[in-house]
Amino acid sequence: MALKETIQSLLDQVDKMSASNMEELEALRIKYLSKKGEITSLFNEFRTVPSDQKRELGQMLNQLRQETENRINSMREKINDQMVNDQMVNDLTRTPDPIALGTRHPLSLVREEIVDIFSRIGFTVAEGPEVEDDRHVYGMLNFPPEHPARDMQDTFFVEKEIGVQKPTDVLLRSHTSSVQTRVMTTQKPPIRVLCPGRVYRNEAVSARAHCFFHQVEGLYIDKNVSYADLREALLYFSKEMFGADTKIRLRPSYFPFTEPSAEMDISCNICGGKGCSFCKGTGWVEILGCGMVDPNVLEACGIDSKVYSGYAFGMGVERITNLKYRVKDLRLFSENDVRFLRQFVSC
Ligand code: DAH
Repeated sequence: MALKETIQSLLDQVDKMSASNMEELEALRIKYLSKKGEITSLFNEFRTVPSDQKRELGQMLNQLRQETENRINSMREKINDQMVNDQMVNDLTRTPDPIALGTRHPLSLVREEIVDIFSRIGFTVAEGPEVEDDRHVYGMLNFPPEHPARDMQDTFFVEKEIGVQKPTDVLLRSHTSSVQTRVMTTQKPPIRVLCPGRVYRNEAVSARAHCFFHQVEGLYIDKNVSYADLREALLYFSKEMFGADTKIRLRPSYFPFTEPSAEMDISCNICGGKGCSFCKGTGWVEILGCGMVDPNVLEACGIDSKVYSGYAFGMGVERITNLKYRVKDLRLFSENDVRFLRQFVSC
Protein backbone atom coordinates (compact mmCIF):
# COMPACT_ATOMS: atom_id res chain seq x y z
CA MET A 1 0.00 0.00 0.00
CA ALA A 2 1.30 3.46 -0.78
CA LEU A 3 2.34 5.48 2.25
CA LYS A 4 -0.55 7.92 1.84
CA GLU A 5 -3.20 5.19 1.98
CA THR A 6 -1.49 3.53 4.92
CA ILE A 7 -1.60 6.80 6.86
CA GLN A 8 -5.24 7.23 5.95
CA SER A 9 -6.19 3.75 7.11
CA LEU A 10 -4.25 4.18 10.37
CA LEU A 11 -6.07 7.48 11.00
CA ASP A 12 -9.36 5.58 10.71
CA GLN A 13 -8.16 2.85 13.07
CA VAL A 14 -6.94 5.37 15.65
CA ASP A 15 -10.25 7.12 15.49
CA LYS A 16 -12.07 3.92 16.41
CA MET A 17 -9.69 2.45 18.98
CA SER A 18 -10.92 1.77 22.49
CA ALA A 19 -9.54 0.33 25.72
CA SER A 20 -11.34 -0.55 28.92
CA ASN A 21 -8.28 -0.80 31.17
CA MET A 22 -4.66 0.28 31.41
CA GLU A 23 -3.33 -3.03 29.97
CA GLU A 24 -5.39 -2.70 26.82
CA LEU A 25 -4.35 0.91 26.52
CA GLU A 26 -0.67 0.05 26.87
CA ALA A 27 -1.06 -2.59 24.17
CA LEU A 28 -2.43 0.08 21.83
CA ARG A 29 0.39 2.44 22.64
CA ILE A 30 2.94 -0.28 21.86
CA LYS A 31 1.13 -1.24 18.66
CA TYR A 32 1.24 2.29 17.25
CA LEU A 33 3.81 4.46 19.02
CA SER A 34 6.58 2.26 20.45
CA LYS A 35 10.00 2.05 18.74
CA LYS A 36 8.76 -0.79 16.58
CA GLY A 37 5.18 0.51 16.44
CA GLU A 38 3.29 0.95 13.17
CA ILE A 39 3.41 4.72 13.18
CA THR A 40 7.07 4.88 14.17
CA SER A 41 7.98 2.57 11.32
CA LEU A 42 6.16 4.82 8.86
CA PHE A 43 8.61 7.56 9.81
CA ASN A 44 11.43 5.23 8.65
CA GLU A 45 9.62 4.63 5.40
CA PHE A 46 9.14 8.39 5.04
CA ARG A 47 12.90 8.79 4.43
CA THR A 48 12.55 7.08 1.07
CA VAL A 49 9.68 9.29 -0.15
CA PRO A 50 10.52 11.44 -3.22
CA SER A 51 11.22 15.03 -2.16
CA ASP A 52 8.23 16.52 -4.02
CA GLN A 53 5.83 14.45 -1.80
CA LYS A 54 7.71 15.00 1.44
CA ARG A 55 5.84 18.13 2.47
CA GLU A 56 2.34 16.68 2.14
CA LEU A 57 3.14 13.25 3.55
CA GLY A 58 5.26 14.73 6.35
CA GLN A 59 2.30 16.82 7.49
CA MET A 60 -0.02 13.80 7.34
CA LEU A 61 2.37 11.67 9.36
CA ASN A 62 2.80 14.31 12.05
CA GLN A 63 -0.95 14.71 12.28
CA LEU A 64 -1.37 10.94 12.62
CA ARG A 65 1.15 10.74 15.45
CA GLN A 66 -0.35 13.74 17.20
CA GLU A 67 -3.89 12.41 17.03
CA THR A 68 -2.83 8.99 18.25
CA GLU A 69 -1.04 10.54 21.23
CA ASN A 70 -4.04 12.74 22.04
CA ARG A 71 -6.46 9.81 21.88
CA ILE A 72 -4.28 7.64 24.07
CA ASN A 73 -3.81 10.44 26.63
CA SER A 74 -7.50 11.18 26.88
CA MET A 75 -8.32 7.48 27.21
CA ARG A 76 -5.73 7.23 29.98
CA GLU A 77 -7.38 10.08 31.87
CA LYS A 78 -10.78 8.47 31.58
CA ILE A 79 -9.56 5.06 32.75
CA ASN A 80 -7.72 6.72 35.61
CA ASP A 81 -10.82 8.64 36.74
CA GLN A 82 -12.81 5.44 36.60
CA MET A 83 -10.21 3.62 38.71
CA VAL A 84 -10.16 6.38 41.34
CA ASN A 85 -13.92 6.36 41.40
CA ASP A 86 -14.12 2.56 41.77
CA GLN A 87 -11.57 2.69 44.53
CA MET A 88 -13.51 5.35 46.40
CA VAL A 89 -16.76 3.49 46.11
CA ASN A 90 -15.19 0.32 47.42
CA ASP A 91 -13.21 1.96 50.19
CA LEU A 92 -15.59 2.11 53.13
CA THR A 93 -12.97 3.71 55.38
CA ARG A 94 -12.44 6.80 53.27
CA THR A 95 -13.41 10.22 54.70
CA PRO A 96 -16.79 11.17 53.28
CA ASP A 97 -17.21 14.24 51.11
CA PRO A 98 -18.19 17.18 53.28
CA ILE A 99 -21.95 17.78 53.27
CA ALA A 100 -22.73 21.32 52.11
CA LEU A 101 -24.88 22.71 54.89
CA GLY A 102 -27.61 25.17 54.04
CA THR A 103 -28.51 28.15 56.21
CA ARG A 104 -31.61 28.97 58.22
CA HIS A 105 -34.11 31.22 56.47
CA PRO A 106 -34.13 34.69 58.05
CA LEU A 107 -37.88 34.46 58.66
CA SER A 108 -37.40 31.17 60.53
CA LEU A 109 -34.63 32.73 62.61
CA VAL A 110 -36.76 35.69 63.57
CA ARG A 111 -39.89 33.61 64.19
CA GLU A 112 -37.90 31.38 66.52
CA GLU A 113 -36.46 34.37 68.33
CA ILE A 114 -39.97 35.79 68.87
CA VAL A 115 -41.21 32.42 70.16
CA ASP A 116 -38.14 32.08 72.37
CA ILE A 117 -38.65 35.50 73.98
CA PHE A 118 -42.32 34.91 74.77
CA SER A 119 -41.70 31.36 75.96
CA ARG A 120 -39.57 32.86 78.72
CA ILE A 121 -42.70 34.52 80.12
CA GLY A 122 -44.88 31.44 79.90
CA PHE A 123 -46.24 31.36 76.34
CA THR A 124 -46.50 28.05 74.49
CA VAL A 125 -47.00 27.55 70.76
CA ALA A 126 -50.37 26.72 69.19
CA GLU A 127 -51.04 26.15 65.50
CA GLY A 128 -54.09 26.23 63.28
CA PRO A 129 -54.94 25.51 59.65
CA GLU A 130 -54.01 27.85 56.79
CA VAL A 131 -57.12 26.81 54.86
CA GLU A 132 -59.83 28.08 57.17
CA ASP A 133 -63.49 28.91 57.24
CA ASP A 134 -65.19 32.27 57.41
CA ARG A 135 -66.30 31.78 61.02
CA HIS A 136 -62.83 31.33 62.50
CA VAL A 137 -61.17 34.06 60.41
CA TYR A 138 -63.91 36.71 60.59
CA GLY A 139 -67.22 35.69 62.18
CA MET A 140 -66.15 34.68 65.67
CA LEU A 141 -63.64 37.54 65.70
CA ASN A 142 -66.48 40.02 65.58
CA PHE A 143 -66.30 40.98 61.88
CA PRO A 144 -70.00 41.36 60.94
CA PRO A 145 -70.81 39.92 57.46
CA GLU A 146 -70.79 43.17 55.47
CA HIS A 147 -68.36 45.08 57.67
CA PRO A 148 -65.72 47.18 55.84
CA ALA A 149 -63.01 45.75 58.14
CA ARG A 150 -63.25 42.62 55.97
CA ASP A 151 -62.12 44.64 52.96
CA MET A 152 -58.84 45.49 54.64
CA GLN A 153 -58.15 41.78 54.91
CA ASP A 154 -59.47 40.47 51.62
CA THR A 155 -58.15 37.00 50.94
CA PHE A 156 -58.43 34.05 48.53
CA PHE A 157 -61.54 31.90 48.54
CA VAL A 158 -61.46 28.20 47.77
CA GLU A 159 -63.97 26.98 45.22
CA LYS A 160 -65.91 23.98 46.47
CA GLU A 161 -66.13 22.48 43.01
CA ILE A 162 -63.81 23.35 40.17
CA GLY A 163 -65.54 25.77 37.86
CA VAL A 164 -67.95 27.06 40.50
CA GLN A 165 -67.16 30.76 40.67
CA LYS A 166 -69.28 31.72 43.68
CA PRO A 167 -67.14 32.43 46.73
CA THR A 168 -67.60 29.86 49.45
CA ASP A 169 -66.81 30.16 53.14
CA VAL A 170 -63.61 28.16 52.70
CA LEU A 171 -60.67 30.55 52.46
CA LEU A 172 -56.98 31.06 53.13
CA ARG A 173 -56.63 32.73 56.52
CA SER A 174 -55.79 36.43 56.29
CA HIS A 175 -54.33 36.56 59.80
CA THR A 176 -53.21 34.24 62.58
CA SER A 177 -55.95 35.68 64.81
CA SER A 178 -58.01 32.74 63.52
CA VAL A 179 -55.88 30.49 65.75
CA GLN A 180 -57.16 32.47 68.76
CA THR A 181 -60.67 31.24 68.07
CA ARG A 182 -59.49 27.67 67.61
CA VAL A 183 -57.58 27.74 70.89
CA MET A 184 -60.35 29.47 72.86
CA THR A 185 -62.94 26.95 71.72
CA THR A 186 -60.79 23.95 72.61
CA GLN A 187 -58.90 25.06 75.74
CA LYS A 188 -60.01 26.43 79.09
CA PRO A 189 -58.43 29.55 80.62
CA PRO A 190 -55.82 30.32 81.71
CA ILE A 191 -54.62 30.40 78.09
CA ARG A 192 -51.24 31.81 77.15
CA VAL A 193 -50.35 30.97 73.56
CA LEU A 194 -48.27 32.19 70.68
CA CYS A 195 -49.45 31.29 67.19
CA PRO A 196 -46.86 31.62 64.42
CA GLY A 197 -47.85 30.91 60.84
CA ARG A 198 -48.33 31.89 57.23
CA VAL A 199 -51.19 34.14 56.18
CA TYR A 200 -52.61 35.25 52.84
CA ARG A 201 -54.02 38.49 51.43
CA ASN A 202 -55.45 39.50 48.11
CA GLU A 203 -52.68 42.03 47.39
CA ALA A 204 -50.64 42.89 44.32
CA VAL A 205 -47.05 41.76 44.91
CA SER A 206 -44.55 44.59 45.33
CA ALA A 207 -41.49 45.43 47.43
CA ARG A 208 -43.82 46.35 50.32
CA ALA A 209 -46.78 43.99 49.97
CA HIS A 210 -47.17 40.31 49.20
CA CYS A 211 -49.99 37.85 48.73
CA PHE A 212 -48.54 35.74 51.54
CA PHE A 213 -46.49 36.59 54.59
CA HIS A 214 -46.00 35.44 58.18
CA GLN A 215 -47.42 36.53 61.48
CA VAL A 216 -47.08 35.67 65.13
CA GLU A 217 -50.19 36.03 67.20
CA GLY A 218 -50.22 36.22 70.99
CA LEU A 219 -53.16 35.53 73.30
CA TYR A 220 -53.45 35.62 77.06
CA ILE A 221 -56.77 34.89 78.78
CA ASP A 222 -57.16 34.67 82.53
CA LYS A 223 -58.94 36.35 85.44
CA ASN A 224 -58.02 40.03 85.90
CA VAL A 225 -55.79 40.45 82.83
CA SER A 226 -55.33 44.17 82.26
CA TYR A 227 -54.07 46.57 79.62
CA ALA A 228 -51.07 47.18 81.90
CA ASP A 229 -50.19 43.47 81.61
CA LEU A 230 -50.32 43.79 77.83
CA ARG A 231 -48.07 46.83 77.86
CA GLU A 232 -45.58 45.17 80.18
CA ALA A 233 -45.35 41.98 78.06
CA LEU A 234 -44.84 43.99 74.87
CA LEU A 235 -42.20 46.21 76.48
CA TYR A 236 -40.35 43.09 77.63
CA PHE A 237 -40.51 41.64 74.12
CA SER A 238 -39.32 44.87 72.47
CA LYS A 239 -36.31 45.24 74.77
CA GLU A 240 -35.32 41.59 74.30
CA MET A 241 -35.71 41.80 70.54
CA PHE A 242 -34.31 45.24 69.77
CA GLY A 243 -32.12 46.11 72.75
CA ALA A 244 -32.51 47.32 76.32
CA ASP A 245 -32.79 51.00 75.32
CA THR A 246 -35.89 50.39 73.21
CA LYS A 247 -38.97 52.42 74.12
CA ILE A 248 -42.55 51.63 73.09
CA ARG A 249 -45.68 53.67 72.57
CA LEU A 250 -49.27 52.51 72.11
CA ARG A 251 -51.52 54.51 69.79
CA PRO A 252 -55.31 54.01 69.78
CA SER A 253 -56.48 52.02 66.77
CA TYR A 254 -59.32 49.81 65.63
CA PHE A 255 -59.61 46.04 65.28
CA PRO A 256 -63.00 44.30 65.44
CA PHE A 257 -61.74 41.69 67.88
CA THR A 258 -60.16 43.96 70.53
CA GLU A 259 -61.54 46.77 72.66
CA PRO A 260 -59.68 48.97 73.27
CA SER A 261 -57.30 48.40 70.34
CA ALA A 262 -53.88 49.86 69.78
CA GLU A 263 -50.96 49.91 67.43
CA MET A 264 -47.55 49.68 68.97
CA ASP A 265 -44.48 51.59 67.84
CA ILE A 266 -40.93 51.09 69.02
CA SER A 267 -38.34 53.85 69.13
CA CYS A 268 -36.55 53.70 65.77
CA ASN A 269 -33.65 51.32 66.18
CA ILE A 270 -31.68 53.01 63.41
CA CYS A 271 -31.51 56.57 64.68
CA GLY A 272 -32.29 55.74 68.32
CA GLY A 273 -35.43 57.88 68.16
CA LYS A 274 -33.85 61.09 66.84
CA GLY A 275 -35.61 60.87 63.48
CA CYS A 276 -34.20 59.51 60.19
CA SER A 277 -35.39 58.54 56.72
CA PHE A 278 -36.30 55.04 57.92
CA CYS A 279 -38.76 56.32 60.54
CA LYS A 280 -39.71 59.25 58.28
CA GLY A 281 -38.35 61.69 60.81
CA THR A 282 -40.75 60.62 63.56
CA GLY A 283 -38.34 58.57 65.70
CA TRP A 284 -40.93 55.74 65.89
CA VAL A 285 -41.70 52.66 63.79
CA GLU A 286 -44.89 50.64 63.97
CA ILE A 287 -44.43 46.94 64.68
CA LEU A 288 -47.72 45.37 65.75
CA GLY A 289 -51.42 45.56 66.53
CA CYS A 290 -52.86 44.65 69.91
CA GLY A 291 -55.64 45.20 72.40
CA MET A 292 -57.91 43.70 75.04
CA VAL A 293 -59.90 40.78 73.65
CA ASP A 294 -63.43 42.01 72.90
CA PRO A 295 -66.04 40.38 75.22
CA ASN A 296 -68.01 39.42 72.08
CA VAL A 297 -65.07 37.28 70.96
CA LEU A 298 -64.78 35.60 74.36
CA GLU A 299 -68.50 34.83 74.34
CA ALA A 300 -68.44 33.57 70.73
CA CYS A 301 -65.75 31.11 71.83
CA GLY A 302 -67.67 29.99 74.91
CA ILE A 303 -65.63 31.88 77.53
CA ASP A 304 -67.51 33.83 80.20
CA SER A 305 -66.50 37.46 79.67
CA LYS A 306 -67.69 38.41 83.17
CA VAL A 307 -65.13 36.09 84.72
CA TYR A 308 -62.28 36.27 82.23
CA SER A 309 -60.48 38.98 80.32
CA GLY A 310 -57.43 38.86 78.10
CA TYR A 311 -55.13 40.59 75.71
CA ALA A 312 -54.01 39.74 72.19
CA PHE A 313 -51.43 41.02 69.78
CA GLY A 314 -50.31 40.20 66.25
CA MET A 315 -47.11 41.06 64.46
CA GLY A 316 -45.69 40.52 60.97
CA VAL A 317 -42.53 38.41 60.97
CA GLU A 318 -41.32 40.10 57.75
CA ARG A 319 -41.71 43.49 59.41
CA ILE A 320 -39.63 42.47 62.45
CA THR A 321 -37.04 40.87 60.15
CA ASN A 322 -36.88 44.05 58.12
CA LEU A 323 -36.22 46.05 61.27
CA LYS A 324 -33.55 43.64 62.47
CA TYR A 325 -31.78 42.94 59.19
CA ARG A 326 -32.89 45.78 56.90
CA VAL A 327 -34.40 43.67 54.15
CA LYS A 328 -35.98 46.35 51.99
CA ASP A 329 -37.80 44.19 49.46
CA LEU A 330 -40.34 41.65 50.74
CA ARG A 331 -40.02 39.57 47.59
CA LEU A 332 -36.47 38.52 48.54
CA PHE A 333 -37.90 36.30 51.26
CA SER A 334 -39.59 33.96 48.81
CA GLU A 335 -37.26 34.05 45.79
CA ASN A 336 -34.92 31.34 47.10
CA ASP A 337 -31.82 33.21 45.98
CA VAL A 338 -28.92 31.62 47.85
CA ARG A 339 -26.89 34.85 47.60
CA PHE A 340 -29.53 36.44 49.83
CA LEU A 341 -30.07 33.44 52.09
CA ARG A 342 -26.35 32.81 52.75
CA GLN A 343 -25.99 36.23 54.33
CA PHE A 344 -27.76 34.94 57.43
CA VAL A 345 -25.28 32.14 58.03
CA SER A 346 -23.84 33.57 61.23
CA CYS A 347 -27.03 35.10 62.61
N1 DAH B 1 -54.89 40.35 62.97
C1 DAH B 1 -54.36 41.68 62.84
C2 DAH B 1 -53.89 41.88 61.40
O1 DAH B 1 -53.60 40.91 60.75
C3 DAH B 1 -53.23 41.90 63.78
C4 DAH B 1 -53.71 41.96 65.19
C5 DAH B 1 -54.13 43.16 65.71
C6 DAH B 1 -53.78 40.82 65.95
C7 DAH B 1 -54.59 43.24 67.01
C8 DAH B 1 -54.26 40.89 67.25
C9 DAH B 1 -54.66 42.12 67.77
O2 DAH B 1 -54.36 39.83 68.04
O3 DAH B 1 -55.09 42.17 69.04
O4 DAH B 1 -53.76 42.98 60.97
